[in-house]
Amino acid sequence: MAAIRRLGILTGGGDAPGLNAVIRAAVRAAERLGVETLGIFDGFEGLLERRFRPFSSATVRDLVAKGGTVLGTSNRCNPFSFPLPDGTRIDRSVEVLDHAAEAGIDALLVIGGDGSLQIARDLAVKGLRLVGVPKTIDNDLAATDSTFGFDSALHVATDAVDRLHTTAESHRRIMLLEVMGRDAGWIALHAGIAGGAHAILLPEIPFSLDRLCDFITRRDAKQKNYTLIVVAEGVRLPDELRAASAKHKTPVANLIGDAIAARTRREVRVTVLGHTQRGGSPSPFDRVLSTRFGVAAVELLARDQFGYMAALRGCEVVPVSLREACSTMKFVDPQSDLVRAARTIGISFGDSP
Ligand code: F6P
Repeated sequence: MAAIRRLGILTGGGDAPGLNAVIRAAVRAAERLGVETLGIFDGFEGLLERRFRPFSSATVRDLVAKGGTVLGTSNRCNPFSFPLPDGTRIDRSVEVLDHAAEAGIDALLVIGGDGSLQIARDLAVKGLRLVGVPKTIDNDLAATDSTFGFDSALHVATDAVDRLHTTAESHRRIMLLEVMGRDAGWIALHAGIAGGAHAILLPEIPFSLDRLCDFITRRDAKQKNYTLIVVAEGVRLPDELRAASAKHKTPVANLIGDAIAARTRREVRVTVLGHTQRGGSPSPFDRVLSTRFGVAAVELLARDQFGYMAALRGCEVVPVSLREACSTMKFVDPQSDLVRAARTIGISFGDSP
């Protein structure tokens, strides 16, 4: 296989704390191998629109602690299904290959979540030499034990739970905190346990309003006059709330909060944490993981292991084929020791009496 002289790097999908640390590590590792790097701006859109700029050790100085991505990102550009103004979609993947070749990019590093990694997998099938680095604050990719961004998001979410305790207790209120987690409840589960929440509502464990309200009422009877509930945004709503959710696009925690207030006649307040969980500086764990992933990705290229991504398995960073990586998501197992431990210490999932 011909030696790689120029590596293009792009970040795709929603941002996550640690993206810049991956870019920094990959640029430095490439430089040591005598490989130039070209930053591609705004995800795959940058390849279609030829938005490139040379990167070097100097460009990436001080990036380890910086949140977001200096390359910019987009979760609206799939070159295989590119949206046109009239609503139709076309395949522009050939342009991606042409523009990469034109810019002298002979290998590509895609740092992204499941959507971007699926695009990367399909571009690899078309002959583009590329490697991946997984990213998502949701930590829901089965191929890796951990993605960077999750730990940082968890710090923000746990801090919010900690803060809500004092105000909830002072006013004897029921407080709900909605955290991210579109399909999987990892942030809610971990932040709920770490923050000492009383109930946690997850996409993986269907809950009933009756059981949740019974739990609150029982707490009241024991003079535990406030209740903190962490809700994953992707929680499966009971039938009676699902119709309202589809109609109004209201945050799910508001719907659940209103229903609890109506049933218990207690004062309820709702906090929706939103993108604060994705912003700001990465945690030390995420900085280290990002650095390892960035270096590992360049090592994959050096070994001609195209079509692979770096993944954390146990304590080791290992290569995993993009085909495998994109196919399976990781959900909270309701029977896992984590959920059992939470139940044992008295946390309710709104599903049992
Ligand atoms: O997948 C990561 C994630 O942060 C989800 O938890 C959340 O639902 C989604 O992205 C939000 O995406 P956007 O930034 O496009 O609103």
